[in-house]
Amino acid sequence: MSVLSDPWEVFEVDFPKTRDAGEKLRFLLNYAVLAPSGHNTQPWLFKVRNGEVELYADRTRGLPIVDPEDRALVISCGAALFNLRVAVRHFGYAYEVQTIPDPDDPDLLARVRLGPEQEATEEEELLFEVLKERHSNRGPFGDRQVPGRLLSALQAAVWEEGAWLHLVQDEAAKHALAELIAEGDRIQLADKRFRRELASWVHPNRTKSRDGIPGYAFGDVMSLAGPFVIRTFDTGKGQAAKDRQLAEGSPVLAVLGTEGDTPADWLAAGQALARILLRARAEGVWGSFLNQPIEVSELRPRVRERVGEAGFLQLLLRMGYGQEVRPTPRRAIEEVLR
Ligand SMILES: Cc1cc2nc3c(=O)[nH]c(=O)nc-3n(C[C@H](O)[C@H](O)[C@H](O)COP(=O)(O)O)c2cc1C
Repeated sequence: MSVLSDPWEVFEVDFPKTRDAGEKLRFLLNYAVLAPSGHNTQPWLFKVRNGEVELYADRTRGLPIVDPEDRALVISCGAALFNLRVAVRHFGYAYEVQTIPDPDDPDLLARVRLGPEQEATEEEELLFEVLKERHSNRGPFGDRQVPGRLLSALQAAVWEEGAWLHLVQDEAAKHALAELIAEGDRIQLADKRFRRELASWVHPNRTKSRDGIPGYAFGDVMSLAGPFVIRTFDTGKGQAAKDRQLAEGSPVLAVLGTEGDTPADWLAAGQALARILLRARAEGVWGSFLNQPIEVSELRPRVRERVGEAGFLQLLLRMGYGQEVRPTPRRAIEEVLR
């Protein structure tokens, strides 16, 4: 039986510098798959051929209840695409990216080709340094404020990727969003189908699964309760109270949105997401998700009203300073190659 590689154990010294573009790209995929994904489904597949890599949506890993249109699925793939871009730049190449290149194949999300040798920028190096240090941090954040300079940089970065970022720091506005998050928890967790879907991706702490969320990543009772409790009981009230507190206690809430609501917009949102999570991480700031009021369609217009930007809401994040957390598993490259 061959032993599968662990993408977290990727080391720069192993970059196959003297090999062909295909081998280089295959190596760089180890960094791509460290990206965040909804329920850690890792809904991506790659095909390396003719010196380029194709990124495919793996819709067999979709979440039909929480993500019926595969919106979060494509966003997750966008995040992996951004990680790949950062890795390509760090190892000293330019890239050419075509997104949604084939209208007849909606699963083919992007083609990436290595360009000529070209030194990475300071920002690209900064992002590469923290690729292995970014994790979703579901713990509480302290009072320490996130510098305005960093927040402006995040907004500019998101804009460059073709999306927008609305920041909420005012206590009353955070409170209003926190209420909607809590309502989202109550609605989602009252739904048996939502609980069943979530439970199927939550694993006991000592899991050998290379996908899904190990209990420890929740950092609370959920880590002990495990999938059985999630599937069986409506824990909405408790979760709502907890998430309300997390949201109100975070120095910044951030809504990431796009002008349109097509797969191309979702892919852009995913790249913007990965970029700001890494950029924030590079300055010691953690990010985490509280998407519930965007996922629940009847709450979405109420979030929109509060945000007041034109376009479509994609993700709700909170940011701040917190305690270190552990990485979650990833599938080996051998498992995500088509
Ligand atoms: C599009 C998207 C939506 C997500 N939604 C949530 C969410 O609503 N709540 C949550 O706790 N985590 C959410 N996550 C975080 C994932 O659960 C997390 O990325 C995954 O478990 C892998 O863990 P990591 O981010 O620590 O690497 C989301 C991630 C993505 C990319």
